[in-house]
Amino acid sequence: MEREKNIALEFDDFSKNYTNDMIGCVPHYLQLVSSFEKHLPKNFRPNSILDLGCGNGNITAQLIPSFPNATYTLVDASTQMIDLCRNQFKDYNITYSNKYFKDFIFNSESYDLIVAGFSLHHCDNLEKQSIFKKIYAALKKGGIFAYCDLMINKTNPDHPLLLEEWKKFVNKSFPDGEKWNWMQEHYEAFDKPSDYQEQLEWLKGAGFQNIQIPFNKEYWVYLQAVK
Ligand SMILES: C[S@@+](CC[C@H](N)C(=O)[O-])C[C@H]1O[C@@H](n2cnc3c(N)ncnc32)[C@H](O)[C@@H]1O
Repeated sequence: MEREKNIALEFDDFSKNYTNDMIGCVPHYLQLVSSFEKHLPKNFRPNSILDLGCGNGNITAQLIPSFPNATYTLVDASTQMIDLCRNQFKDYNITYSNKYFKDFIFNSESYDLIVAGFSLHHCDNLEKQSIFKKIYAALKKGGIFAYCDLMINKTNPDHPLLLEEWKKFVNKSFPDGEKWNWMQEHYEAFDKPSDYQEQLEWLKGAGFQNIQIPFNKEYWVYLQAVK
């Protein structure tokens, strides 16, 4: 409970300069965000979209130009992040849910598209498996789950190298080293990435059959799974 309370407060704080911080701290951030629109099947026209861990709305903002008339449901534990979305998306059909994923009710067969950008690595392995099942049940038949994140276990033998490369990337954008120090604390306290191979098995276990990985660079992954 304490940990969850802190995620909301951590991201309230992070919300202040969020997009610039993400561009400078997360390798391939803009490419991964643009993947949510770029890799969807060309004839796919979702009417109802759920954004899990919407943050300041960067994934929804990517989708709105292509699907301006869809209904959107945005879920996030951070009140400040939800407020940024409320200001940004005044003209669209959006429902907000300022909740943790575990408290959000995933109604069955309700969405054509469910997206999660850099939010599920805050869930541990069991939570991810549970949420994949809820996502599958909440999608309509033919619906798509699109998800991007860092997908490597902290015990993976490649993890130390990933951290080295990541540090170089962050220090290029923020050379005084302060940002990397802060990120290390955040990563230690809040982040629980899982190997993508393991997650593919969990997705299959949840029922997904057609799973594609259109983007995968140094464990920064964007995947799509069809119900
Ligand atoms: C790194 S941000 C990602 C924001 C946006 N989707 C993007 O791609 O830039 C992660 C967001 O997920 C939210 N979050 C993390 N764990 C959550 C949970 N268990 N329940 C609800 N929101 C959560 C955080 O509050 C934060 O706003």
